[in-house]
Amino acid sequence: MRIALLGGTGDIGEGLAIRWARDTSHTVHIGSRDPEKGKEKAAEYRSELTDRGFEVEITGSGNETAAAAADVVVVSVPPQYAADTVASVAESLEKGDIVVSPAVAMDRDKSGFHYDRPEGGSIAEVIARATPEAIPVVGAFQNLAAGALTDLDNELDYHVVVTGDDPEARVDIKELSEEIDGIDALIGGPLANSGEIEAITPLLINLAMNNDGLHDLGVKFQ
Ligand SMILES: NC(=O)c1ccc[n+]([C@@H]2O[C@H](COP(=O)([O-])OP(=O)(O)OC[C@H]3O[C@@H](n4cnc5c(N)ncnc54)[C@H](OP(=O)(O)O)[C@@H]3O)[C@@H](O)[C@H]2O)c1
Repeated sequence: MRIALLGGTGDIGEGLAIRWARDTSHTVHIGSRDPEKGKEKAAEYRSELTDRGFEVEITGSGNETAAAAADVVVVSVPPQYAADTVASVAESLEKGDIVVSPAVAMDRDKSGFHYDRPEGGSIAEVIARATPEAIPVVGAFQNLAAGALTDLDNELDYHVVVTGDDPEARVDIKELSEEIDGIDALIGGPLANSGEIEAITPLLINLAMNNDGLHDLGVKFQ
């Protein structure tokens, strides 16, 4: 499989890129608005993994080139830019591709972080409206903390909840999630259920902020 991370130069993009590159044989493409930045970050991730003795395939480019090279396109940009980012690569998407939303919209005030539910229910659904109709959109990874992924010495033990209206695409992303060591995935139902998953993330951050010794929390359902 070929995976593109749009905005893969950022925190969650780095975490997913290096975990997939380390734990699977899939090719990983780092997208950026600036192709040079995409290439530099890809080289950085590659050298982090080769220094640890892993042979990996990570390339970098502009977002459009990354999307064109991939079957799975993860929109790893801040939520307010997610719809425009998908729209900017729409012509590079083709039947059979899957777009994945890890995005969560949050507000912060003096109490802590709060879910900022977008009109339309969730960012995953906002992304779906910006995506060509033939391309399924799946919500996943919203509750994984980038810091937990980027620390490669950290052994993961988390669930990812996968939502989407296309059952095959959902299963593909469930399996792709589970190829990362320490991740199990659950099907959360149709894309309309994504808001409930996105809303867990501010809770995780508030728990980390209010409890000594907790950081980079994720979820494990049992
Ligand atoms: N960080 C986490 O722990 C975490 C966990 C779960 C889910 N998420 C979700 O994942 C998404 C990315 O989070 P992040 O923390 O990785 O974000 P980030 O590091 O702040 O940004 C990711 C990338 O987005 C691109 N970007 C910035 N401004 C942009 C704009 N105006 N238009 C298009 N692209 C822009 C940048 O890439 P270029 O400059 O290279 O284009 C940047 O490196 C968010 O939706 C967030 O809710 C994050």
